[in-house]
Amino acid sequence: MFDVVCLVSEHSIASTASDDRPVYITTPIFYVNAAPHIGHMYTMILGDIMKRWHTLCGKRAILCTGTDEHGMKIQQAAALAGIKSKSFCDDGAQLFKNLASECNVEYDRFIRTTDKDHIEAVQYAWSMLADRGYLYESKHEGWYAVSDETFYPTSQVHSVLDTATGKTKNVSKETGKEVQWVSEINYRFRLSAFRERLLEWYKDNPRWILPDVRMQDIVRGVEAGTDTEDLSVSRPCARLTWGIPVPTDSSQTIYVWLDALINYITAAGFPWTPGQESIGGWPAHCQIIGKDIMRFHCIYWPAFLMALDIPLPKQFLTHGYWLLGKERMSKSTGNVINPFFALDRFGVDNLRCFLALHGNVTKDSSYSNYAIYDTYQTILRNRIGNLVSRLLKGKWSIRRAVMETTEKHSQNREYVDMRAHIKKARDIASQMMANNDVNQALQAIIELPLHANAFIQQTEPWMLVKKKSNEENAKGLNKPLDITIFHAVESIRVLGILLQPFMPGKARQLLDMLGVSEEKRTLAHCEFGCDRTYGESPDIPEGEAGMLFPPLASTE
Ligand SMILES: *[C@@H]1O[C@H](CO)[C@@H](O)[C@H](O)[C@H]1NC(C)=O
Ligand SMILES: *[C@@H]1O[C@H](CO)[C@@H](O)[C@H](O)[C@H]1NC(C)=O
Repeated sequence: MFDVVCLVSEHSIASTASDDRPVYITTPIFYVNAAPHIGHMYTMILGDIMKRWHTLCGKRAILCTGTDEHGMKIQQAAALAGIKSKSFCDDGAQLFKNLASECNVEYDRFIRTTDKDHIEAVQYAWSMLADRGYLYESKHEGWYAVSDETFYPTSQVHSVLDTATGKTKNVSKETGKEVQWVSEINYRFRLSAFRERLLEWYKDNPRWILPDVRMQDIVRGVEAGTDTEDLSVSRPCARLTWGIPVPTDSSQTIYVWLDALINYITAAGFPWTPGQESIGGWPAHCQIIGKDIMRFHCIYWPAFLMALDIPLPKQFLTHGYWLLGKERMSKSTGNVINPFFALDRFGVDNLRCFLALHGNVTKDSSYSNYAIYDTYQTILRNRIGNLVSRLLKGKWSIRRAVMETTEKHSQNREYVDMRAHIKKARDIASQMMANNDVNQALQAIIELPLHANAFIQQTEPWMLVKKKSNEENAKGLNKPLDITIFHAVESIRVLGILLQPFMPGKARQLLDMLGVSEEKRTLAHCEFGCDRTYGESPDIPEGEAGMLFPPLASTE
């Protein structure tokens, strides 16, 4: 036997002993006003991959996703549809739940801001902020865009001619949405009081926001002071009723962003019983957000948390948009991809793989049916699928190679290299995932089958078969053949384990084909030669039914 031990126990014991807090990952909560799009799907899948990766490493991981349901836009949309706001939200939330389930996203909590525990958490947080003197009443005047739920400074507003009515109207320069002059009393949060502490925090945590360029944007905005003016955190009920009431003032409704941000701690059990603060995983290991909501998450949110004396999340992963052609997908221009249709057409694992491989968090990424098709052909079908079927259908016994390859490892270069590539795939993927770099992790993993294909090309097991008689091969008297097959299937076994977070369905199918037992599918089992129990593969049907990646209907 080879002297290889799995790292199983070491791994899991170390992680539980040092810190029993689960790894907590969040996606944004999605505004139910708009139908799910590719961007939502991407965020959810990134979160799911991270969660599954930590699980693979033997840790307890929690993923939270959900829906943001309060605010003027919902109130108006529901009124327009002639239904109650809550039923409008029920329908919207269901769509996002369906998306999560079709994407095979294993969330632990689907939080809705209309959930009872959330409403209580928000009111509790409000009272804490008020008690600590961080809220005050003020008169608020300005240009307000209902559809953006945002006040704009006069410099950000201009008059345009509305071609539909022939009248001029004032609109936001940034969004083009109509603004009205509004004057009202509301509560403000002393955001300006946190400017110094925020700057200090950014300085001490230079990798708090990924990627770096966006961290710099945030720091610049806070340094300039423009992004840390005191923040209006309530609206008069006369204007907004669909929200959480201010607990101490029935004439006011809590601003939707304060309400929404609190979801991340509601889901982690806030308000906590003393001593139970880490029960739900807070502070989050990683909060995933789109680049359009950074100001709220990376300035307001940490300030709220500082005011509440709650630790800040460990990291934000911010990502760009998905473009169709050269344009941002947007409902108003009509160039949106319905994620449900895409899932139907390409299959969930294929789409997950595409999004993880082509999604670039730094810049905007391009979505195209052709690119999805191409990824499937070149990487999944040709590189991985062919390798698997070649090995499983060869004239050799995988079971015997796995069980009985007892000789000292061959020191020929091909073998040494193959073992090194297996280790490298695991090590680089682990390192990249530790940096929350899903893309680079997957890139490293799909290098492995490339090397495995080259290895087979070099070692030519089909030639080794011919060197001995059928009888000798069957009796296990062809050591060079067994060692070669063993190295090749080890690469596939490790590939299957590493792919699980990215393509859970296909990875499972692959590991099933190899007969790898359920409890031997963790990162600790990604050691060459550490599992000697697999290789008894079930009967794999002929034709497409038995293929890991059957042909895909071509794109038009
Ligand atoms: C637009 O703003 C100007 C002042 O900047 C104001 O005089 C005008 O009445 C506004 N128009 C509308 C339609 O509100
Ligand atoms: C993402 O974009 C950056 C900046 O253009 C580039 O350096 C990097 O290689 C890209 N990554 C991927 C995976 O395409």
